[in-house]
Amino acid sequence: MYTLNWGHLSLAEFLQHYWQKKPVLIKAGFKQFVDPLSADEVAGLALEEEIESRIVSNNNNNWQLHSGPFTDYANFGEQNWTLLVQAVDHWHQEAAKLLQPFRFIPNWRIDDLMVSFSTPGGGVGPHLDQYDVFIIQGEGKRHWRVGMPDPSLEQHCPHPRLLQVSPFTDCINVITEPGDILYIPPGCPHDGISIENSLNYSVGFRAPSQKDLINGFADHLLDQNLSGNRFSDQNRQPAESIGAITAADLQQVQQLVSDMANNKELLPHWFGEMISQAKHELDINQPDPHYTVEEIAEYITEGSVLTRVGGLRCCYYQADASSDILLFINGDKVSIPATELATVKLLTDQEILSVTDNLIFSQSDERLQLLTQMINLGYWYFTE
Ligand code: SIN
Ligand code: CO
Repeated sequence: MYTLNWGHLSLAEFLQHYWQKKPVLIKAGFKQFVDPLSADEVAGLALEEEIESRIVSNNNNNWQLHSGPFTDYANFGEQNWTLLVQAVDHWHQEAAKLLQPFRFIPNWRIDDLMVSFSTPGGGVGPHLDQYDVFIIQGEGKRHWRVGMPDPSLEQHCPHPRLLQVSPFTDCINVITEPGDILYIPPGCPHDGISIENSLNYSVGFRAPSQKDLINGFADHLLDQNLSGNRFSDQNRQPAESIGAITAADLQQVQQLVSDMANNKELLPHWFGEMISQAKHELDINQPDPHYTVEEIAEYITEGSVLTRVGGLRCCYYQADASSDILLFINGDKVSIPATELATVKLLTDQEILSVTDNLIFSQSDERLQLLTQMINLGYWYFTE
């Protein structure tokens, strides 16, 4: 269990003054920090084909990027490289616990936990990210510099797959120690150079762009075979110039597009399905054979604990207290009666379903069926 110690700040002050606005160092944000995994375990994860990993090295300004999996690090030497492993929360239950203290931001805004292991001099170079990030210092020390967004900064590629930024003025210049947390809003240039072998944990967020949203919306319309209304021009007058698209035509096109986007019925369905899709592979093992509802009822009355698969995206939408709840899990939607909000929250708000939580599921056939379905999909598994 990691508890965030805000120091001189409070959560409310952080949200008001820093979130999406200004970088800040939360010194000793985790007191007596204990790494949830070791550098060897990070290397173990980077051995796996289905886990995304990369190494960035920099020798005398010769930047290189290699994609994993990695079996051997001998070629990289003792310094000036960093190994980055994506979506570690999907594969490592202890590491996933590092997301918990940041869950004052809703599930759908959280992306993943990236872990890096850096040798002295290692780092990915000065760069900008499009997303908010909390970078937790694990074992070791790292020199971090962070600046404010600056439109005059130029981006360049010292390697075809590495985007860096020109020298920037810092507003934070610190050596981070275990348990320190740096918060960096989108667009703030930053550069972390390891002083000694060092582990860093990045809690990353996601913020869909208009392009992502429009793409996702179009996919939903295609999936549902929804074509909407068609352009019509009953009051057409003779064209002044037959080559011209007029402002009035465009306005009508724009209206058609925005009418579709403004459809309040469609909105929660497509957004929930889209935003709950996994971006990285999940460690899902469906039980074989599938459990029956009766078996699940028996296990939970005997006192079983269930754990949610790491990185599973779960969220819900309820228009008002009397409306059905749309429960979104891993890109799928289930409609649940309005009265079941507490049950839905057990699934979306908790990673562990305790013995007592599970007893709530055994109180009705519908709840048991839902839980059985989730277990048979491999989304929750018995841990005790
Ligand atoms: C890291 O190297 O651990 C974080 C990389 C970053 O700044 O995004
Ligand atoms: Co970054």
